[in-house]
Amino acid sequence: MRDINQYSITEAVKDSFKTQDGSRLKVLLEAFIKHLHDYTRETNLTHEEWMGVLMFLYDCGKISTPERHEFILLSDVLGWSALVDMINTRGGATEGSNLGPFYLDDAPVKALGAHIAPGRPGAVVLVQGQVRDTLGNPLPGAIVDTWQADAAGTYPIQEQASGQDKYDLRAKLTADAEGKYWYTTVLPKPYTVPYDGPVGRLLRAGNRHSWRAAHLHYIVRAAGMRSITTELFFENTDYIDNDAVFGVRRSLIGKITPVKKSDSLPVDLEQEPDAKIAFDFVLAPEG
Ligand SMILES: [Fe+2]
Repeated sequence: MRDINQYSITEAVKDSFKTQDGSRLKVLLEAFIKHLHDYTRETNLTHEEWMGVLMFLYDCGKISTPERHEFILLSDVLGWSALVDMINTRGGATEGSNLGPFYLDDAPVKALGAHIAPGRPGAVVLVQGQVRDTLGNPLPGAIVDTWQADAAGTYPIQEQASGQDKYDLRAKLTADAEGKYWYTTVLPKPYTVPYDGPVGRLLRAGNRHSWRAAHLHYIVRAAGMRSITTELFFENTDYIDNDAVFGVRRSLIGKITPVKKSDSLPVDLEQEPDAKIAFDFVLAPEG
């Protein structure tokens, strides 16, 4: 190892890890080392730049809490989350989109027809659809786990200091015997991703805005199926073509239409809707 140089060091570092041949760890680690070293040689990285990157990562860690994950945000603005979503979407299934930093896995269980934004200002919208498998069979009992921003573009979890309940604007719904789900909520507004930390500094340095197109978040699960994490966007809304985290896909854009008197609505709605949107989820089998 004495004759190591800027080219041979890459193989030496790879060889220093005694990972099992053919293992996933070996594949991931060796590719990471190769690309990290290639990046460094290609850019002639200086000591100041190298330390700048390390301090940036340090700052991301420092500002992170269980409820604010700056590394997820970093992944999002670099399009890394979107890329992972894209390559992991199964043929025929609903396309994946950003998890975002505000998911809580213990959202309150609510009944179909619930209004998940009680007392909140904003247009009330009926969200309804069906959960199916890739062959078109309904998935009764599928869990539709949703969370969202309010009509001002804020997640209650961001405003706990002012008395907001972090579980507000969240629900776990169980699809009925035909795989159908329905609930009402208020329409969310676009919001900026957190801009006061290191990722905000990065966006400013790159003359990028930090706005997300308005969306509803979903994780949909069903027994024996591969769960999906995705988002529902709305046609003709701001930032739909330049979302800060590259989350929008054509197939994830729904159309909001006003509710008409002649519409037949689910009978068990807690709140009368002003508008409605339909969105079906398609899950691929596990494996
Ligand atoms: Fe979001």
